[in-house]
Amino acid sequence: MWNERYASNEFAYGTEPNSFLVQNTNLLTSPVLSLAEGEGRNAVFLASLGLDVLGVDQSDVGLAKAQKLAASRGLVIRTEVADLASYEPPENHYGSVISISAHLPSQVRDRLYPRVERSLKPGGVIILESYAKAQISRNTGGPKDIDMLLDLADLEQQFPNCERIFAREIEREIIEGTFHTGLAWVVQFIARKK
Ligand SMILES: C[S@@+](CC[C@H](N)C(=O)[O-])C[C@H]1O[C@@H](n2cnc3c(N)ncnc32)[C@H](O)[C@@H]1O
Repeated sequence: MWNERYASNEFAYGTEPNSFLVQNTNLLTSPVLSLAEGEGRNAVFLASLGLDVLGVDQSDVGLAKAQKLAASRGLVIRTEVADLASYEPPENHYGSVISISAHLPSQVRDRLYPRVERSLKPGGVIILESYAKAQISRNTGGPKDIDMLLDLADLEQQFPNCERIFAREIEREIIEGTFHTGLAWVVQFIARKK
């Protein structure tokens, strides 16, 4: 499904970075792991700030576009084709992990998030934005499977070894390519590894 979506020359979510990520880049340090990076808009932006970024995604087509986007701007990003359902990030390694619209089934999240937490160095930060469960009845973006949408209460349980820096569920205008466009409910979450 994702390779099909990414097959066109267009960028499904545009080439501009996610605005919540942009607002919080001051918290990020290298190396950065970007979960479900897609076509590279966020990784390329972070590379433009001098950060060392690894973008992981199951879509080889998406990551090939990500590499092209980086090269077109004279930037370097690292990419890895992998299924997050079985992904094993190295422990105590990352300064930051970003998860932008990385909509995954709860079973995959429940396995992945403890590994993400362990992959952070002490003081490392996770920045996450996802469509919220309240978005299910909207047609402005996000999966149509409620299990892949987040709520804050659930998320707060997921990172017990992190201190919460920021957490909210809000309705906000999103303009990110063809597939994320319009007023939408999102969860925004930032936490720091103790
Ligand atoms: C809505 S797109 C978001 C892409 C990117 N984060 C962005 O904000 O532009 C969701 C991405 O999740 C990836 N994805 C979904 N399930 C995955 C899995 N099990 N393992 C790795 N990537 C996955 C898809 O390939 C797709 O690129």
